[in-house]
Amino acid sequence: MLRSHNCGELREDHVGQEVTLSGWVQKIRDKGGLMWVDLRDRYGITQLTFEEGRTKAEAIETARKLGREFVIQVKGKVVERYAKNDKIPTGSIEIDVEELTILNAAKTPPFVIEDETDGGEDLRMKYRYLDLRRGTVRRKLELRSQLAIAVRNYLSNQQFVEVETPVLIKSTPEGARDFVVPSRINPGEFYALPQSPQTFKQLLMVSGFDRYFQIVKCFRDEDLRADRQPEFTQIDCEMSFVDRDDVLDTFEGMTRHLFSSIKEVELGQFPRMSYADAMSKYGSDKPDVRFGMEFVELNDVAQNKGFNVFDQAELVVGICAKGCAEYTRKQLDALTDFVKRPQIGAKGLVYVKCNADGTFKSSVDKFYTQENLAEWAQKAGAEAGDLMLVLSGNTNSTRKQMNELRLHMGSELGLRNPNEFKPLWVVDFPLLEWDEETQRFHAMHHPFTSPLKEDIKKLDTDPGSVRANAYDLVINGVEIGGGSIRIHDKATQQLMFKHLGFSDEEAKAQFGFLMDAFEFGAPPHGGIAFGFDRLCAMFGGSETIRDYIAFPKNTSGRDVMIDSPSEVADEQLVELGLRLR
Ligand code: AMO
Repeated sequence: MLRSHNCGELREDHVGQEVTLSGWVQKIRDKGGLMWVDLRDRYGITQLTFEEGRTKAEAIETARKLGREFVIQVKGKVVERYAKNDKIPTGSIEIDVEELTILNAAKTPPFVIEDETDGGEDLRMKYRYLDLRRGTVRRKLELRSQLAIAVRNYLSNQQFVEVETPVLIKSTPEGARDFVVPSRINPGEFYALPQSPQTFKQLLMVSGFDRYFQIVKCFRDEDLRADRQPEFTQIDCEMSFVDRDDVLDTFEGMTRHLFSSIKEVELGQFPRMSYADAMSKYGSDKPDVRFGMEFVELNDVAQNKGFNVFDQAELVVGICAKGCAEYTRKQLDALTDFVKRPQIGAKGLVYVKCNADGTFKSSVDKFYTQENLAEWAQKAGAEAGDLMLVLSGNTNSTRKQMNELRLHMGSELGLRNPNEFKPLWVVDFPLLEWDEETQRFHAMHHPFTSPLKEDIKKLDTDPGSVRANAYDLVINGVEIGGGSIRIHDKATQQLMFKHLGFSDEEAKAQFGFLMDAFEFGAPPHGGIAFGFDRLCAMFGGSETIRDYIAFPKNTSGRDVMIDSPSEVADEQLVELGLRLR
C-alpha cells in the first residue's frame, strides 16, 4: 500500500506513530528553515513539516521542487502541533517528514483547488476532473451516492426488483425529441435512446415482476435549463395490482425515509392538491407551498366599474403581499418592470396599498372608490399594512404571469427558505393537452396514462376536460417526480392512440408490441419516476442539477471536456449508411 492512513484520519491518539501518507499538494508555505506542506486527499488535509537540521536534507531538497497538485508520498512520525488548527479535524497533529517521494509532478492547475475557487464555470467544466477534486463538488457526488444506496436499500426492502432495461430502443414518446443512433448492420435504420424505460417497465408488469425499480439514465433532446440535462437519471418504478393511493403511499414513504435518514428532516404527511386547484390558487402545476400568497380572483368585485382593461379581461387576479404597503414608487416600478419583461409578458401591474389608517391608495384610484377597494381587500384577506398586486387578461397567461410574480415576491420577502421542505402531491392532471402548433391533442403525461374512470365517457364529447389518473410529486416548487396509473387493456389503449391522432397502422407500428402484450394477461399497474438529479440537488440545497452530475453537459448540450458532440470520420458515416461512398 502506498499509504498506511488517509489524510483525514490522524488525531492526537496517533502521536508517536510512524505513518505513510499519499495525496496531492494543496498548499506550500516556505519560511526558509521551516516548511509546511498541506497534503490533501478525499478524506481531508494533513499538515507535513520539514525543518532544516531535523528533516533529512534529501527530503527538504525534494520538498523544494514541489508545486500545487503534485502527487506525493511521505513517511514520517505523527507529532502534536505547536499551534493547533481547530478548523480541520486533523488540526492538532502534523507529520514530521522523514522521506518524501514525488509520485507524479503536476502542471499548475488552471484554477485553485479549494472550496472557493477562482475558476469560472467554463474553465471548471473543461477541467472537470480537477473541479471534482474540490471538496464542495466532491461532497455533492458523495451525497448522490448516499442517496442512490438509500433508495436501493429502501426499495429492495419493499420487495422491488432492480431490472436493467435496454438503452438502444425505439422511440417512446415522453414529449421530448429522441436522440437517435444509426444501426450499422441495418442500414438506414435507427435506434432511439430511451426518454424513459416506460414501455419496458410496463412489460415487466405483464411478466409478473410485480414491483420493479431502476436507477436509470434517460435521454431527451430538449432545451437545457438549470433543472434539465439531455441525459439525466431517474429512479424509475412500477407496481402491479395497485391503485393511485398505493403508489402515492409507497413513494411518499420512500421520500420521507430519505429525508429523515439522510437530512434528518421529518416531512410528515404530504398534502394532495388537484391540478385544477393548483392552477387556480398558484397558477402553476408545481406550486411552491412553503408560503401562502394564494391567488384571489377579483372578477366579481373589479369588473364593470369602468376600468376597461379589467372589464375586457377573462381573469382579474390578485395576491396579497403582507406588510408591503410601504413599498416605494421605485419598488413598485421594479415590480411592474418585472412582470413586463418579455419572458413574463404582462402588460402592466395594478397595485393597492392598504394604508395603516384604513384608507387605500391604488394605481387605479380613478376607477375605484375606497369602498370598492375595501371589497378587494376583504376578498384577498388584505389588512392595513399589506399590498395587493393585481394582474388581468386571458386566464392561462395571467395565471402564469401571476405565478412568476408570486414566486418573485416570495423570494423578495424571504419566504422561500432553502432549509424548509414542503412536499405536495399534485393529482388529477388533464389527460390531454391541446397543442396550438400541431393543432391536435397531446398526452399531457404520456399515452399510456389511464383516464379517470368517471371521465372516460367525455373522451368523445369533451376530450380536453378528461382528467388523468396521473400525479406529480412537487417539493418546494420543483417537480421531483411524476407518474400515473396505466391503461392495461388493448381497447382503451387503442382508443387513447386514436384520440392522440394516431391511425391504427401508426399505433400498431409504434406500439404494437405493448398492445399485443396487453392481450396476454396484463395486470392493472401504475408507477412513478423521480428525477434523481433533481432530488440530489434538492437535498444539497441547490437549484442546478449540473453540480450533482459528475460529467454534465453545458447549456449548449456540450461536454467541453471531451469536446462532444463532434464530427465523425467520413468512413464511419459511410459504414453507418449515412453517406454514400
Ligand atoms: P416524466 O417525464 O415526468 O415521467 O419524468 C420523471 C421525472 O424526471 C425528471 N426529469 C428530468 N430531470 C432532469 N433533466 C431532464 N431533462 C428531465 N426530464 C424529466 C423530473 C420528472 O418529474 N415515464 C414517466 C414516469 C412514469 O409515468 O412512471 C416519466 O418519464 O423530475
